[in-house]
Amino acid sequence: MYHEIDLDKIDKNSEPPTEEPARQYYFMAKCREWVKDFEQRHSRLPQACVVNMGCQMNARDSEKLTGILENIGYQMTDSEEADFVIYNTCTVRENANNKVYGRLGYLHAYKKKHPHMKIALCGCMMQEPHVAQRIQKSYSFVNLVFGTHNLYKFPELFAASLEGEDMVMELWEGTDQIVEELPVERKYSFKSGVNIMFGCNNFCSYCIVPYVRGRERSRSPKDILGEVEQLAADGVVEVMLLGQNVNSYGKTLKGPISFAQLLTEVEKIDNIKRIRFMTSHPKDLSPELIQVMASSPKICNHLHLPMQSGSSRILEKMNRRYTKEQYLDLAKRLREAIPNLSLTTDIIVGFPGETEEDFEDTMDVVREVGFDSAFTFIYSKRTGTPAASMENQVPEEVVKVRFNKLLKEVQTISAQRAERLTGQVQTILVEEVNSQDPSLVTGRLGNNSVVHIPGDASMIGTFVDVTLEECKGFYYYGKPITTA
Ligand code: SAH
Ligand code: SF4
Ligand code: F3S
Repeated sequence: MYHEIDLDKIDKNSEPPTEEPARQYYFMAKCREWVKDFEQRHSRLPQACVVNMGCQMNARDSEKLTGILENIGYQMTDSEEADFVIYNTCTVRENANNKVYGRLGYLHAYKKKHPHMKIALCGCMMQEPHVAQRIQKSYSFVNLVFGTHNLYKFPELFAASLEGEDMVMELWEGTDQIVEELPVERKYSFKSGVNIMFGCNNFCSYCIVPYVRGRERSRSPKDILGEVEQLAADGVVEVMLLGQNVNSYGKTLKGPISFAQLLTEVEKIDNIKRIRFMTSHPKDLSPELIQVMASSPKICNHLHLPMQSGSSRILEKMNRRYTKEQYLDLAKRLREAIPNLSLTTDIIVGFPGETEEDFEDTMDVVREVGFDSAFTFIYSKRTGTPAASMENQVPEEVVKVRFNKLLKEVQTISAQRAERLTGQVQTILVEEVNSQDPSLVTGRLGNNSVVHIPGDASMIGTFVDVTLEECKGFYYYGKPITTA
């Protein structure tokens, strides 16, 4: 667990320690010297901007980067016109990559006018060898590049890049290490993500994540529960347990523990009121987990259960290891066991070889399950994955027609599902003042739906019982019920 460490007390003239995380604290102390020097020269603190471009796991990594930068003495800003900008990249789909190259162009223009600026890139995209090569060759103005496996070494690598002008690039192919106890700065004071595992062993044939995040590694229950306890003591009331496939949690640990057992332990921590998790793979979702969810007052009635396709034939080619029928059966058992469960999903359209009939199977499941919401994606070819070299890639025009048809269906169904709660009294956790209308605050139901109610900043982080007055498709307007 992270404890406040006084960086000023670290002897910066001695050799760096070899053990972790002490070594990184040593380099944080070194960086802080640099910040003090900057402050003297410029009469202000240097500003840093961390840009998160990926999933919840990336977002959590960004909080770690922010925690380190704040400890060093940087002032955080949302503006990319800063002294230090770091992009925490995602590469799950091709368009994510193109965005990074585009944005780097803008950063370069700014850096030309402000030559002292430092630019860093990290995250999943950097783990792809062709990306690293391109950055080295054509983006030499970038100061620092590192990957997903050595994120914990950020202070050491940052110190090296502050000292020289040459690009510092360090990328590892994999790791079995999990370094605990580095500082983290949470975006929200009342809720937090908690990593329970890293990497993925599933190798779905379209997906690049196992290549860029490495093999599955579970954190020990002791470290996870310690972190949740500390968060609770710090005012956090909602945790989201994070992993690419939380249902296989514990399988790589010496003393095996199941995900359902871990949830039961998290549940015992007093001040934690809401527990969420992400992501569940249908093939590993155990009856034990359904039962724990059904009987728990704290686990939210929301399950994100990516289906990817409704066609058993395509599912097999995707290496998902379940069939259409198994998915439908699972959805049915979940809905029966957990009243008012909100079931959400991810769907890919246009996987190689997808026929009209396969697509109709997907539409079929969408109608039968009635998802509360669904993220729909156009299949994106990822270099190095088995699907990239499959024959029968579906023509773009065909994919577009299917995609639009699916999107329409998904939106109609989710609006119908949302409508059924109108008029009910439900509890929300207030998250922020509404960015468009400051007389409103925005919170979330247990099922993850967004609700806007009249209120002010003092309500942030509190639970409020509200009447859901009006449903707007995928969000609600509500009114707090007054307890006289
Ligand atoms: N581990 C999670 C998903 C992580 S990626 C799981 O297994 O469910 C998030 C989503 O991105 C996936 O569910 C999938 O729908 C989508 N995705 C992944 N690779 C993709 C690709 N090559 N093309 C389009 N969508 C993709
Ligand atoms: Fe990708 Fe499949 Fe792993 Fe999810 S389970 S991260 S889709 S390989
Ligand atoms: Fe993207 Fe990496 Fe997450 S590829 S989806 S940021 S694990």
